[in-house]
Amino acid sequence: MENQIGIKKWDILENIFVEKLIFWWKWLAVLEHINPDYNWRKIIINWWVVPESIVNLKVTKKKNSFLEAQIVDVIKKSPFEEENKENKYWECWGCKWVNIKYEKQLEIKENQVKEALHNITRNLKNLDELFLEIEASPTINWYRNKVEFSYWKYISRTHNKEEHFNVWFHKQWEFSKIQDFDWCVLIDEIQNEIFREIKKFSKTLWLPVYDQFDQKWFFRHILIRRTHFADEIMLLLSFNPNYFEDKVNLDKTEKLDLIKDFLISLTKKYSQIKSIYFSHNVNKADTCIWDLELIFGKKTIKENLMWLSFNISPTSFFQTNSTGAQKLYELVLDFAKWDFSDFTVLDLYWWTGTIWMIFAKAWAKKVISVEMVKSSSKDWETNAKLNNLENISFENSKVEDFLEKYLKDWKKADLLIIDPARAGMHPKALENILNFNTKQIIYVSCNPSTLARDLEYILQNGEYKIEKIKAMDMFPHTHHIETIVSLKKK
Ligand SMILES: C[S@@+](CC[C@H](N)C(=O)[O-])C[C@H]1O[C@@H](n2cnc3c(N)ncnc32)[C@H](O)[C@@H]1O
Repeated sequence: MENQIGIKKWDILENIFVEKLIFWWKWLAVLEHINPDYNWRKIIINWWVVPESIVNLKVTKKKNSFLEAQIVDVIKKSPFEEENKENKYWECWGCKWVNIKYEKQLEIKENQVKEALHNITRNLKNLDELFLEIEASPTINWYRNKVEFSYWKYISRTHNKEEHFNVWFHKQWEFSKIQDFDWCVLIDEIQNEIFREIKKFSKTLWLPVYDQFDQKWFFRHILIRRTHFADEIMLLLSFNPNYFEDKVNLDKTEKLDLIKDFLISLTKKYSQIKSIYFSHNVNKADTCIWDLELIFGKKTIKENLMWLSFNISPTSFFQTNSTGAQKLYELVLDFAKWDFSDFTVLDLYWWTGTIWMIFAKAWAKKVISVEMVKSSSKDWETNAKLNNLENISFENSKVEDFLEKYLKDWKKADLLIIDPARAGMHPKALENILNFNTKQIIYVSCNPSTLARDLEYILQNGEYKIEKIKAMDMFPHTHHIETIVSLKKK
C-alpha cells in the first residue's frame, strides 16, 4: 500500500539535493521516492538557490515526466555558497550568481558549454580533448565600466506602493519596481561613491523623481562610465526639462545651475572625472540619452585595449568589462595565429568594432566589418584615425545579405571571424560562409545552444574540423558565457 503514495500539487518534498543549474534560473533535482512511479523523477526548481544545497520544496506543477517546484526552505547550505552579508544587493538580479563561489560559477559555465556541444557528438567523437580550460574574467567584482541608475517613484506600481525617492536598478521581471540601494558589486568603489554623492545631493533639492507612467516630474537617470585602463570618468544626469513649465515658484535656471555646480564640484574630489553631461530628456521611453549638453570637460573619455585607444562618447557602444574584453581579444588573436600577414579578414557582426581594429593593427592586410545597426559604428572612423588604421572598411548591412553580394562579386576572404548575437547565424549566412573555403573560421559566441546548432551545420556541410574550444567568462556573477571555437579546413 505504502508504495502507492502519490504526489499532488502543493505537496512538500523534503531534503532534496539540488544537483545543478539547467537554464538561467531553473535548477534540477532528482526525486528519490518510495513509489516507483515517482522514483528518479526530475524536479525543475523555479527559483534561485546555490547548487548542492539541500532544500524543502513545494510542488507547483505535475507533468508526466517531471515535477516543477518552488523552494520552501534551505535545510543545508551548499559548500559552494559565498557569504553575502548584504544579500539585498542582488535582488535586482544583475549579479544573481554572486553568492556562488567563483570557482563553482566557472565550473557551471564550462559544463553548460560542454553539454550544449555534446549535443553534436555525432561529429565530435573527441570533443573533450578539444576543450581548453575555461578562462576566468581578470576582474571578478567591480568589472563594469558603465552603469545606469534610474530614479523611480514606485516600490510597486502594481500594488500601488510608493516611496517618493528611489534611485537604483529596476527589479528584473518587475519593471514597475525599483530597488533602492546604495551599492552595486559590479562597479568599483569610486563609481559607487559618486553614485551615492549624486543621490544624496539630488534628494536635498526637493525636486520630484520622474514618473515613467504619467510621463512627468523631474529626475530620470544617472549614467557613470569609468574606463579601466585609461581611468577616466564620464557622468551624465538625465532629467525632464519640461517639469518647470507650470511651476511659477521654481526658477529652472537656478535649479539647473545648482546641479551643474554640484556635479562640477565632484571633479575636485575625483580628478578622474573628465566629462559631465546633462541629458534634457523628454523621451517617452525609459532611456537616458536624449538632448545632450556637455557641462564640463571633454566630449569623450578614453579607454585603451591592447595597443589601441578608443574615444568613448555617452552614446558609444563599448564592451562593459574592459579587462574581460582585452582577455577575450587576446584569446581570439592567439587562436588566429597565422604565419603570414598578407590576408583579408571578414569580421562578421561588429557591434563595438574592437575585433577588426585589433586584427587591422596586428597583421591583416585588410579587415572588412559587417554590422546591421548603423549607430553602433558611428565612432569607427574617429577611432580608426586615432590608431592610424587605414586597412579597414565598414559595411552597414545584414551579414546574410552582405555575404551573398560579396561572393557574387567574386571577392575573397582568408579568415572569418564570426561573433553573432544570441540568436546565432542566419541560415543563409551559414550556407555562404562555407563558400569562402577559408583555412580557418573563428566563431565567438555568447550562446552555447546556437553555437552548437551552427557548428553542427558547418561540420556536416563543410570541410572543417574543430581545432580547439575555449570558454571565457566575461560576466562573473551572471549566467552569461562566451565561447571561442577555432575551425580549421581539413
Ligand atoms: C555579440 S555582438 C558582436 C560583438 C563584437 N564582435 C565585439 O567584439 O564587440 C553581435 C552583433 O551582431 C549584430 N547583428 C545581429 N544580427 C545581425 C545580422 N543579421 N547582420 C549583421 N549584424 C547583426 C548585433 O547588432 C550586434 O551588434
